[in-house]
Amino acid sequence: DWVMRDHIEEAVQKIREQVGDEEVILGLSGGVDSSVAAALIHRAIGDQLTCVFVDHGLLRLNEGDMVMDMFEGKLHAKVIRVDASELFLGQLAGVTDPEAKRKIIGGLFVDVFKAEAAKLKAAGNGAKGATFLAQGTIYPDVIESGGAKSKKAVTIKSHHNVGGLPEQLGLKLLEPLRDLFKDEVRELGVALGLPHDMVYRHPFPGPGLGVRILGEVKPEYAKLLQRADAIFIEELRSHIDPVSGKSWYDLTSQAFTVFLPVKSVGVMGDGRTYDYVVALRAVCTSDFMTADWAELPYSLLKRVSGRIINEVRGINRVTYDVSSKPPATIEWE
Ligand code: XMP
Repeated sequence: DWVMRDHIEEAVQKIREQVGDEEVILGLSGGVDSSVAAALIHRAIGDQLTCVFVDHGLLRLNEGDMVMDMFEGKLHAKVIRVDASELFLGQLAGVTDPEAKRKIIGGLFVDVFKAEAAKLKAAGNGAKGATFLAQGTIYPDVIESGGAKSKKAVTIKSHHNVGGLPEQLGLKLLEPLRDLFKDEVRELGVALGLPHDMVYRHPFPGPGLGVRILGEVKPEYAKLLQRADAIFIEELRSHIDPVSGKSWYDLTSQAFTVFLPVKSVGVMGDGRTYDYVVALRAVCTSDFMTADWAELPYSLLKRVSGRIINEVRGINRVTYDVSSKPPATIEWE
């Protein structure tokens, strides 16, 4: 569409003017905002952009590879993937309090990103070194950080749009999505050639599976949860509601699986099993401040539970969360 093409052209010109022949670094999370910002900046300045993707080991199944495939493989952008899962999981060992887990994950994320940014600032690939830090800040973030902040908003900010970082690193800020609402960011992403599934993804919290494994985060739990959650998401995407013609993924605002570190009894063949429980969570909401649990079809729930129990050895019970917000929250931690 012409309007969008003009928008892109204008945004590209603006970025080129602002950056000149300097170098830019960007923290790529795989989320919508940082992905669209990366694609747009890459369109404008190509290899003057380096993306840093910190993999904390608490992402969804194969997510790290998918991010690399898209940005390095298809867009040919420069991406540094930092596999920090051992560091994160090591620091999380023995920690059960949700806010403590958030602090550890958020803090380590900043440390790892800072270390990479400092390296790039010092060296750069062409010896010049980066002078800009790009962030996928969108208009609602701008309003939010100007007004009264909720505790959660601060947590989200401190993780994603790493506050104070440009000053600490002595970098100038580049925020090409600052004037856009979420819908506009999505349209821009599609126009830039990002896949629909990436641009219309459900939100994913910065601490990732770290807050979807209740209590202590163990590598074994993360592996089970990743596989169970991948089945749930795959089935939501493939189940089409005949009335609207939309998939249940698109009909829900956020859907995921929660790992409960409790064991319940089951039977398999002649023997008993004593395995873990997961909860499926799916909500419909317009603002994430209030949310209704989604009335998923029984056929879908049945298929998901059957697949998880059969395919993920170690999980023998699947439950569905029928709590709305308030008083429950969307996440379990
Ligand atoms: P709750 O659970 O409070 O979640 O109903 C509301 C929305 O916020 C997301 N959320 C987070 N996002 N860091 C984030 O980046 C966090 O620590 C965090 N906690 C909750 C949640 O996924 C939902 O979309």
